Amino acid sequence: MAESISKGVKIVVIGVGSVGSATAYTLLLSGIVSEIVLIDVNKDKAEGESMDLNHAASSDTKSRAGDYPDCADAAIVIVTCGINQKHGQTRMDLAAKNAAIMQDIIPNVAKYAPDTILLIATNPVDVLTYVSYKASGFPLNRVLGSGTVLDTARLKYILGEHFDISPDSVDACVIGEHGDSGVPVWSLTSIDGMKLRDYCESKNHSHDDAIYHKIFEQTRDAAYDIIKRKGYTSYGIAAGLLRIVKAILGDTNTKLTVSTVGDYYGVENIAISVPMKLNKSGVHPTDQIPLDEKETELMKKSSRQIKSALKNLKV
Ligand code: 2OP
Repeated sequence: MAESISKGVKIVVIGVGSVGSATAYTLLLSGIVSEIVLIDVNKDKAEGESMDLNHAASSDTKSRAGDYPDCADAAIVIVTCGINQKHGQTRMDLAAKNAAIMQDIIPNVAKYAPDTILLIATNPVDVLTYVSYKASGFPLNRVLGSGTVLDTARLKYILGEHFDISPDSVDACVIGEHGDSGVPVWSLTSIDGMKLRDYCESKNHSHDDAIYHKIFEQTRDAAYDIIKRKGYTSYGIAAGLLRIVKAILGDTNTKLTVSTVGDYYGVENIAISVPMKLNKSGVHPTDQIPLDEKETELMKKSSRQIKSALKNLKV
């Protein structure tokens, strides 16, 4: 799809905290939708944000504050509401409170927008994608979480910095939990079209597990490092959500590491990220990526971790 306004396409953003407002702004500037509706428990905040957004729009995109009935006919409803991670907390620490919020709001969305696609960004995103799937009664292809799209972008950026190359020339991904047990797929990583080892040999870089370990630590801990400094993260996730929305609205069949519900790595009924195909009917499985033994073990561990969080919530 060209970067032009999709006439009549409405996106709803629920929750206009740091992530919701950055997402609305990113969507607005991208010019790919005609209407952005903001819903928040704080109606004044939603109204103020939409007024401000309208002054940033140089196109036909309009923003307005709304309520659940305004979800009707939305192509995508993006959920960003809930409490966010404070310094010293993990994403999983938010599970109980944010699951209760999802159980409250998702049935309202499903009531007014029974055909929409639900895109969950609230943390812990994998757990809440599963909770939202259950609470919506939607088919599997219409519920997804932002998953490790952001971790993948972070890994590509950090590898780009390490090799002094554009992240666009880095083919790498993080799968598994969007959180502490995410898994970097080193066995399939390539730089400038060359396998990691071959690239390093050709450029005289050292190819050393300790270096990759450090690079992944930086990727995994990026949110902690940002939250320690600015209190929250927003732009990275907003850009990731835009990437997902573009793939859906543009019907591109792009593969992204979003979180979806299914049976993964021997664990039934969880949501976790693996590469999935996105198009206008939502999210669809693609061929399973071949992982090496260590990566497979890590994915089993990550899947079990998500299952155990879901068991604690009794969902
Ligand atoms: C992030 O990774 C906090 O999940 C959020 O930026």
